[in-house]
Amino acid sequence: MALVGWKKEYETGIESVDEEHKELLALINETTAKLRADLHTVENIESYLGEIHAKISAHFALEERFMRDASYSHLKPHKDDHERLLDDLRRIMVNYRSGSYLQFEQSLIQHLNDWFMIHFTTHDSLLHGELGDHPH
Ligand SMILES: [Fe+2]
Ligand SMILES: [Fe+2]
Repeated sequence: MALVGWKKEYETGIESVDEEHKELLALINETTAKLRADLHTVENIESYLGEIHAKISAHFALEERFMRDASYSHLKPHKDDHERLLDDLRRIMVNYRSGSYLQFEQSLIQHLNDWFMIHFTTHDSLLHGELGDHPH
């Protein structure tokens, strides 16, 4: 399976937000590349996934604070989607521990596609279209 590339339709219209999204995407692609380079010891995987989880959680927390401060009307469904994505990521981590590398790679790439294709083009573009950029 191919790595996830950045596409024009992932853009939210706010440059700094898109930069952050690109960084998350790069981090995930880097992890997949490391897996392919055969560096996938359990310790390495756990630290790669831990890093991805930490960065994504921090990004989501920033958006959620921004939405709360602005009394954003779509906060609930947006936050629910963040929680679903983090649950998926935790599930991938658990599956990795108990399953094969191949399943892990496929589920990681599959979920990434969902995140970037769906979350960025719906929730994030709606949010930033209405409220602009969040404070950093
Ligand atoms: Fe975002
Ligand atoms: Fe979001």
